[in-house]
Amino acid sequence: MEKLVITGGKRLNGEVFISGAKNAAVAIIPAAIMAGGICVIDNLPNIEDVASLRSTLNKMGAGCEYADKHTLKIDSSGDINTCAVFEEVRKIRASYYLLGALLGRYKNAAVALPGGCNFGTRPIDLHLKGFRALGAKVEVSNGIVKLSAEKLIGTQIYMDQVSVGATINIMLASSMAEGTTIIENAAKEPHVVDTANFLNMMGANIKGAGTDIIRIRGVKELHGAEYTIIPDQIEAGTYMIAAAMAGGEVTVKNIIPKHMDSLTAKLAEMGVNIEKDDDSIKIISSGALNCANIKTMSYPGFPTDLQPQMTALLSACNGISVVTENVWDNRYQYVDELRQLGAKITVESRVALIEGVKKLKGAKVSATDLRAGAAMIVAGLSAEGVTEISNIKYIDRGYEEIEEKLSNLGADIIRVDED
Ligand code: EPZ
Repeated sequence: MEKLVITGGKRLNGEVFISGAKNAAVAIIPAAIMAGGICVIDNLPNIEDVASLRSTLNKMGAGCEYADKHTLKIDSSGDINTCAVFEEVRKIRASYYLLGALLGRYKNAAVALPGGCNFGTRPIDLHLKGFRALGAKVEVSNGIVKLSAEKLIGTQIYMDQVSVGATINIMLASSMAEGTTIIENAAKEPHVVDTANFLNMMGANIKGAGTDIIRIRGVKELHGAEYTIIPDQIEAGTYMIAAAMAGGEVTVKNIIPKHMDSLTAKLAEMGVNIEKDDDSIKIISSGALNCANIKTMSYPGFPTDLQPQMTALLSACNGISVVTENVWDNRYQYVDELRQLGAKITVESRVALIEGVKKLKGAKVSATDLRAGAAMIVAGLSAEGVTEISNIKYIDRGYEEIEEKLSNLGADIIRVDED
């Protein structure tokens, strides 16, 4: 086991290049098995979740090889095993996209899924409701979801709640259904649009991705395609927040600035200077910022996946901030860890009240999940003294070379073996 050791208090300066979007990659890689041909997917983040999916696809019979560390070549022209019940599949929640992809192409799937996660239950009832509406029989037993259908027939599906995963899964399955499927109250996240664009490159007919209503006209078959994944909105946001908190001048490059609007508006309100360019945003911060209130919402609202990092920032701002988590039931486990660093936070249900302190102080903390780990890094960079972060396997699942990228900005952060 390894840990990250950060000596805080260094200002951050320079440029950081953002990797491809994890949450687009974990949908697009499974989608590639629908091609029945060769797909080349570029700008993939070099992270554990991508490595697990690569191994999964290989075990299922889709040849999946790295052309370089950011490019996978996936060949799904041979026989694919529609029963994915091995270890790697259980490791990542996004394995649920194998369900939509297999059901769409083969009308048959058995996929092992993980149970709850560190921020509460992660239901997939909306995914299953969508599959049933398309005509699939659904069975869930012993952690394995089994789907089968003679044929899938397009229909109108109203999502009771905005769900990224269910929207993408229904898009996958219905791309090869008979007739037209209409998803209402669809998720509008950038990775929903990216997955739709990739499916369209493979020959699907999807319109409206990025709006509340997505129309999918089913096609008989898809084909191979080459595709470049969009930049990671959440990785970009994490560096923007880190720069705002530590102080300094950081240009976050290779991003789509529009995807960052909810964060840039909030940081500007708090006193950060922001300069936008076509594919970069420069953060200029004194590190002494005002409090703010945040409410997480589905896109284009403030992303829940930046909530822990933002709470870390607010914990050393001037005044009292209120954070309301509207997406997940229980995404404040990391607050106990921030308290170890001296943060003054009380949580009641979905609301966190943060009384800004002058400086956080280094301590030993743990990454309770991926974004919680990112929050510990953000906090540790500006804290006085040394912060040690354990359980960093979560961070490695979603952030490419985080200590290298931060070191290049002048941070004092190293990875060492745990004693
Ligand atoms: C995606 O998860 C992301 N993961 C999450 O990012 C992100 O937090 C989340 O969207 C919200 O933006 C991936 O894209 C792989 P949802 P997903 O379905 O799709 C409820 C990260 O840190 N719901 O949009 O699983 C659910 O409980 C990760 O990178 C149901 O009730 O999230 C939640 O309250 C963590 N039934 C809300 O909807 C369902 O069937 C939104 O969940 C599905 C969801």
